[in-house]
Amino acid sequence: MKFFVDTADLADIRDLHATGMVDGVTTNPSLIAKAGRNFLEVIAEICDLVKGPVSAEVAATDVETMLKEGRKLAAIAENVTVKLPLTWDGLKACRALADDGTMVNVTLCFSANQALLAAKAGAAFISPFVGRLDDIGETGMDLIREIRAIYDNYDYETEILVASIRNPVHVKEAAIIGADVATVPPAVLRQLSQHPLTDKGLAAFLADWKKTGQSIL
Ligand code: E4P
Repeated sequence: MKFFVDTADLADIRDLHATGMVDGVTTNPSLIAKAGRNFLEVIAEICDLVKGPVSAEVAATDVETMLKEGRKLAAIAENVTVKLPLTWDGLKACRALADDGTMVNVTLCFSANQALLAAKAGAAFISPFVGRLDDIGETGMDLIREIRAIYDNYDYETEILVASIRNPVHVKEAAIIGADVATVPPAVLRQLSQHPLTDKGLAAFLADWKKTGQSIL
């Protein structure tokens, strides 16, 4: 499974990229607002650093303006993935941009039928939001299972990009289901390597090693 990092914070992206675990980046208008920087500049800098897909979201809601914005974003770098909302205008813009050869990430997906439409519109990625479904008392991962089954039934190439991830359990379940990508907030990505028994075991090994009085180098 690929890991994208879900942030517009360059310092976090740089730090996590150095682990070799980052296959791409997703941003959204809220993350751009949080970064407090110029949108186009931040996307260009992220694209310089990370060679995989970097999602940049349009701000328009009508198809014509979405296309203008999407083409401007796509011109920033080859790895820009234009992010469009799952509306009829978004789906029409998705088809047009996909026909241009631009990667599109269709976002704000909350149902399997929406995901089916995005695949038919030629989306490179569909972003189902699991955390926001959990927040309203549904089970976000059920949606990932449904989309996996539908895409496999028809051999759709659209990649399932699990979004709105809140914890390591979301990452594990997405991987078990066979999602293509998880976009993970920096704090959750860092949590993935952690286990209290790893820390405890390492402390014990180091203490015993010290008793031997030896040095490897
Ligand atoms: C990424 O593509 C999404 O915009 C993001 O994962 C949404 O996460 P949130 O529901 O925690 O805001």
